[in-house]
Amino acid sequence: MSSRKKVWVSRPLFPDVLARLAEHAEVQAEAVERRHAPEELRAKLAAADGAIVGLADRIDAAALEGNARLRVVANLGVGHDNLDLAALTRAGILACNTPDVLNESTADYAWALLLAAARRVGAAERWLRAGHWPEGMRFDDWLGVDLHGRTLGVLGMGRIGRAVARRAAGFDMRVLYHNRAPLPEALERESGGAEWVDKATLLRQSDHLVLVLPYTPESRHAIGAAELALMKPRAVLVNIARGGIVDDAALAAALREGRLAAAGLDVFEGEPRVHPDLLALDNVVLSPHIASASADARHAMAELAAENVLAALGLVPGRPPAPL
Ligand code: DGY
Repeated sequence: MSSRKKVWVSRPLFPDVLARLAEHAEVQAEAVERRHAPEELRAKLAAADGAIVGLADRIDAAALEGNARLRVVANLGVGHDNLDLAALTRAGILACNTPDVLNESTADYAWALLLAAARRVGAAERWLRAGHWPEGMRFDDWLGVDLHGRTLGVLGMGRIGRAVARRAAGFDMRVLYHNRAPLPEALERESGGAEWVDKATLLRQSDHLVLVLPYTPESRHAIGAAELALMKPRAVLVNIARGGIVDDAALAAALREGRLAAAGLDVFEGEPRVHPDLLALDNVVLSPHIASASADARHAMAELAAENVLAALGLVPGRPPAPL
């Protein structure tokens, strides 16, 4: 029997990253993207020393039941609400994620959604592809809302939030943010001169609002009917954080009733299911959780996850990653 450590990779990954893992460990990588049934997930984890998992893999006490072998779980993502950290800690398993390497690409994508939603790019493209242009277009068709010179709000001013805020300077925007506590002044200066305000003020004064906060029981429905009611009717809301932070039904109602101009959503409560009321609207840009999906960022995330596993298993020199 091989004495090499075993690493299970729950989804297809870049071949060069798998090859790097295979230099040091026996690798079992899934060749097809799919959801694993609970029993299969438990069996795969029980047969591995290390695992690289995606956000669709829920690693909780049930997934770890009877597991005496697994030492490290590396999440392909900075958000880790799919990991039950208490259960992992109880089982003596190190959990790690992929911070930093995706900050800039994810911030770029927040702006892609903001611009697309504000200027109605998705709806206009659908109209053009449907062949309507030759039927004629009025001068006052397709009117969007401006970004330049307006106020950008950022809810959740961590590393990605700050990268979103920094980009606002290019649009001559004032930046407001809300976090549990204000950032040190130097960080505010580096973040487009962002000013801390309480949450209600952020909602009332932002012309456009980007959500970049982690999903926790406290942040569930942080934007619901009451919060949406405080926002400007010409505002655009962007969620690149996690589904569930927004009450999707309440958002759909606000968009349908013209209480909000538009939204750009990369994440959804209960994804990959998308609330049917959102699917029925034209003033929302929807994407399938791809904010970090630039070629470079995704490769860097995969590399970091692989190096985390190798270091945690003591297969390469260097310190194991700090626990989450
Ligand atoms: C993350 O890193 O948490 C992203 O949502 C994954 O793309």
